[in-house]
Amino acid sequence: MSPTPLRVLVDDATLTVDVRGEGPAVLFIHGFPFDRTMWRHQIGALRRWRRIAPDLRGVGDSSGAAHSIARHADDVVAVLDAAGAARAVVVGLSMGGYIALELLRRHPGRVRGLALCCTRATADSPEARAGREDGIARVRSGGAGAVVDGLVPKLLAPDGEPGRRAELEREIREMGARWTAAGMIGALEAMRDREDATPVLDAVSVPALVMAGAEDAIIPADDMRALSEHVPGSRWAVVPDAGHLAPLEQPFVVTRLLVDFLGSLR
Ligand code: MLT
Repeated sequence: MSPTPLRVLVDDATLTVDVRGEGPAVLFIHGFPFDRTMWRHQIGALRRWRRIAPDLRGVGDSSGAAHSIARHADDVVAVLDAAGAARAVVVGLSMGGYIALELLRRHPGRVRGLALCCTRATADSPEARAGREDGIARVRSGGAGAVVDGLVPKLLAPDGEPGRRAELEREIREMGARWTAAGMIGALEAMRDREDATPVLDAVSVPALVMAGAEDAIIPADDMRALSEHVPGSRWAVVPDAGHLAPLEQPFVVTRLLVDFLGSLR
């Protein structure tokens, strides 16, 4: 995406990070099983900001594997350090939102604002934890692609134009193919074991934007609205004709929401 991505060495892993432009920092954290390219529309558009987008451990051009959300949160602190950003507005989709909330729990001084998209604060239910176990078993027997295949039908709004839908599905499969088996197992374990972040939400003291995909089959918009009600003074938006991958499905709408939110912070 960027001609010269930054390489950040953290312990035994090298993280690859796109850093673009000058201005106040915005950190984009991708979801599962995606990579930093899922933010390419927003990164291309937000020209008045320094945009920072890492591939998390075990995906894309980053090595290693993280077995906890805390590890990911500490990784993104190393990314901010390497990019010279003392504080950033943090934008997270789904698993990226789990990491953003963990960042806020562990390193609150690094977060200047928060934009949460298609995510939740609660920990996994027993059924969801069983689903993670099943996913881990499928990666072990069939590779990372087996999990991606199972997810693709649930990720997009159901009534999208067929040609566009096929293009998005291809893009999701490409991102999914960039995960190593170890990286994917680590991410599934990290999500399975994550703590309830509702107390973090209740204590948010930075400006916040909460966005839902109107047709998200994985994290319903009603759940996101309930999440937004925990964040004092947050902006709330539903992205029409979007499923779980709103920044790619409706790039103009999501970019507009971010431009307005970020503009309110300058
Ligand atoms: C994601 O998009 O990051 C995942 O749907 C999160 C999850 O599986 O909990």
